[in-house]
Amino acid sequence: MAEPVSMPHNQRPAGCPFRPGPDLVDLHRDPVLHRVPVPNSQLGVVDAVLVTRDADARAVLSDPRYEVGFAFDPDRAGPRSVMNQPGVLLNYDGDEHLRYRRMQGGAFTMKRIRSLSGVIEKIVDEHLDAVQSAGPGVDLIPTFAEPLPLIVICELLGAPQEDRAEILARSSVASSVDTTLEVQQDNFAAMTDYMAGLVAAHRREPGDNILGDLVRRHGAELSDDELIGMGLDVLVAGHGTLSGMIGTSVLALLTHPDQLAVLRDDESASGSAVEELLRWLAVAPPLIRRANADLVLDEQRVDAGEYVVVSTLMANQGVALTPPADELDLRRKPLPHLAFGYGKHQCVGQQLARLELRLALTGLLRRFPDLRLAVPFEDVEYRTESLVFGVRSLPVAW
Ligand code: HEM
Repeated sequence: MAEPVSMPHNQRPAGCPFRPGPDLVDLHRDPVLHRVPVPNSQLGVVDAVLVTRDADARAVLSDPRYEVGFAFDPDRAGPRSVMNQPGVLLNYDGDEHLRYRRMQGGAFTMKRIRSLSGVIEKIVDEHLDAVQSAGPGVDLIPTFAEPLPLIVICELLGAPQEDRAEILARSSVASSVDTTLEVQQDNFAAMTDYMAGLVAAHRREPGDNILGDLVRRHGAELSDDELIGMGLDVLVAGHGTLSGMIGTSVLALLTHPDQLAVLRDDESASGSAVEELLRWLAVAPPLIRRANADLVLDEQRVDAGEYVVVSTLMANQGVALTPPADELDLRRKPLPHLAFGYGKHQCVGQQLARLELRLALTGLLRRFPDLRLAVPFEDVEYRTESLVFGVRSLPVAW
């Protein structure tokens, strides 16, 4: 039996980025639920019950007794941090969560998302022009995978495009597990200041975007502080995840040419192809909860106050699933997956994420049907400091 792994960094072994590491697979095969150390930017390192099986993951994520807002206290003294910022959805459980979620979810309407489709296609095209002019050898991360979601976030918040560099820097620090608490606090203070400016601008004149919609529809019942929290949700949750998914999806396709051909040769397969990539890559960090009572999970005891951590990567690629789920297969009928979480906290931006991914990947392969890696696979660098799995640098040629 392998020693407990530390999450999330040891989920994927170095040099083999797509599969859960052998120690994690061992823990998954073991019927006993193990406790593993989990580094957390706010809590330090905590021990948590590791959940890797799909059924256990769904049981935890749909049971309100496994709480997510355990660290949140709006009256907590000290500087603003994610632990005392109102309006951030993952700070709330139960009815309070439902109230904010209805408002925020209501702003992510299909109409709003569809209206972004043309904007996204245009951004994809412009960035592919720049990639083409830069020529073979260009790094696809700073030229394509990062700016695309950033520009969309600016659109969602009504933020000036010139602020992209600041948003990128802030959201990267927020997702980093490689910083001190002071750095996180300074970064959070700067993000809240920035968002306060946007909220004030929308209070004066609500824009035609998601933050503007929230002010128009719910401005009277929400404080500035709550609106700031909701804006921060979009800024932090919508960037690293998507840039991570775009970069790792391209790498997965380039290293599986038969799969790349499926998407390149039949764009009508793009919906199910993106679903399979989301499932197989599972870029989001392991999801953490805390039991608020003595509970039983998979016939084993979880004590009140214990943390639980769900590896969506391992659950999505679970070795016991049928058909075999550890292979990437873009032709398959989409398998249910946990890439966007499950239950009441399931990702509020998932339809937008699917649209961005579909347009980014089909646009890329239409422009560069012979796309290939410009460096050996072993030399590809990963975002090892980030909570969200991603590629740091991806030089390509065609
Ligand atoms: C491929 C891209 C994305 C992935 C893989 C992803 C993944 C996730 C996951 C796993 C959760 C659940 C967290 C938990 O239960 O602890 C979540 C929640 C959330 N996501 Fe996403 N996400 C993506 C894109 C986005 C985008 C584009 C936005 C907004 C612009 C967004 C906003 C949110 C918010 C606000 C929540 C909290 C929902 C709640 O607590 O009710 N995400 N996301």
